[in-house]
Amino acid sequence: MAAANNWTSSGFIDVTDTFLPPDRLPAWQLLHAHRQRLATERVAELFDAHPKRFDELSIDACGLLADFSRQRLDRNTLDALIELARQARLPEGIDALFSGQPVNHTEERAALHMALRGGCPPPVADATQVQDTASRMRTLARDLRAGVLKGASGRPIRRVVNLGIGGSDLGPRMVVEALAGPTAKHPVMVHFAANIDPQELDEVLADANPAETLFIVASKSFTTAETLANAQAARAWLRTALGPDADLGAHFVAVTNAVAAAVDFGIAKERLLPMPEWVGGRYSVWSAIGLPVLIALGETGFEALLAGARAMDEHFCNAPLAANLPVWMGLVGLWNTDFLDQETLAVLPYAHGLRNFPAWLQQLEMESNGKRTLRDGTFSTVMTAPVVWGGAGTVGQHAFHQLFYQGTRAIPVDFIVVAGGEDPRRQALVHNALAQAAALTHGRSLDEAAAALRARGADEAEIRRLAPHLTIPGNQASTTVLLPRLDAYSLGALMALYEHKVFVQGWIWGINSFDQYGVELGKEMARRLSDATAAAHGDGATIGLKRAIAALRRGDPYP
Ligand code: F6P
Repeated sequence: MAAANNWTSSGFIDVTDTFLPPDRLPAWQLLHAHRQRLATERVAELFDAHPKRFDELSIDACGLLADFSRQRLDRNTLDALIELARQARLPEGIDALFSGQPVNHTEERAALHMALRGGCPPPVADATQVQDTASRMRTLARDLRAGVLKGASGRPIRRVVNLGIGGSDLGPRMVVEALAGPTAKHPVMVHFAANIDPQELDEVLADANPAETLFIVASKSFTTAETLANAQAARAWLRTALGPDADLGAHFVAVTNAVAAAVDFGIAKERLLPMPEWVGGRYSVWSAIGLPVLIALGETGFEALLAGARAMDEHFCNAPLAANLPVWMGLVGLWNTDFLDQETLAVLPYAHGLRNFPAWLQQLEMESNGKRTLRDGTFSTVMTAPVVWGGAGTVGQHAFHQLFYQGTRAIPVDFIVVAGGEDPRRQALVHNALAQAAALTHGRSLDEAAAALRARGADEAEIRRLAPHLTIPGNQASTTVLLPRLDAYSLGALMALYEHKVFVQGWIWGINSFDQYGVELGKEMARRLSDATAAAHGDGATIGLKRAIAALRRGDPYP
């Protein structure tokens, strides 16, 4: 039996009695048998043998359709995975999430981001403050869009720059890029700066008019070095341009959970939009962190984003496991990671607007489930979050797809495909995505390669020499997720789909998807190393590199 952990006294599921790591559940052993059974099967042949394969392995919800029929499993495996979810008590986990239990048990709090979009809403104690913030951010966005909000010199604000990083940047940046189009044509332009490298903010401000620029300092903790450095740089830029006596407060808004720290920084109380403790950074685009989205899209767009996510919440919390899209997606990912030993997940949105979807998803998946400590304090003996990476299709086809085709690794892919839309030119994206997925399944055998060369007029010696180089093993697993169109509703549903997929996996692996102690150590180390008095601080490599950097700065050769 797992070791005891006294956080269960809160009334949350009593893991001391019931928690078992997934590999100790009977279904896990059964899944190994499925792995062996399928080891020599090829998905291309499974399609031939089972004409209903697509119907059995695809599922739709909230306007999205996900096709898992190109994955290296069959319906029996999916059923066994669903049984694993049952044995891991996933339904109780989903109940715990939506009823506001402290699923973030290390930090002893609930994860209530669904409350911000009203989907199967979990109870929140501070509902009045949440509503008040929601209505204040809407008023602010309305005033900005109407040109009513003025800077210190009385000129209307025409440009907003979001200063945030991680969850305080990736979500709003990705949604604005996906849906707003070129914001130069909008009543208010929306920009983002995340990096502590001044180049990013310098580029954003290169053609900005300080009198017409507003900065949103977006930081849940209000301690993040990059964001504070950029906020200070923004203040200095404004002061230089507007003069020492200008009311710089008119050019700042803050979104934070650390209200006192923001006030200390000099943000006026009426310009503060509090975000609740119970929204994790990577789940925060639905909160006031989404202010840039509200400004860029207007209320209708922002409400549609929330509505799409809300629909996915309701589906996730109400649908049985066997008909639950995030559950299927989580289970198929777990199958790839733990039974097929696939170490990465490539995410390829076939839409330029979604080019930064993989970056948003990297934080969501890897910061949530890149962990090894289980609910009972022991360490996982199975693999958890894969390395998530990717980029916009079709761009990647001419860069890294080669490795999918002929490399030595199995790399599952999520193709995200926008089916409809008004622009017929976008149909090429759909054709490309479908063709890539099919080619990865089928590959090209040695005989097919030889036939292709023969058809080109090659002689037998040439065929023998080249055919091995033209063979492609195929059998590369992929999921295709179809969106009816790239609009706010579909994007909201897609984002919530991945959020819940992450919860499904984290729950079954037995890790806490809502803390991030690892990155916090990184932040602490960076703070210590940047301390000027600690020049000799660090291990041998750090000290050696610091010496080399100091030499370069002096113009000396490497020591
Ligand atoms: O360092 C990781 C992290 O804490 C993320 O979890 C978070 O999204 C990001 O930094 C930014 O944090 P904050 O919003 O507190 O500035």
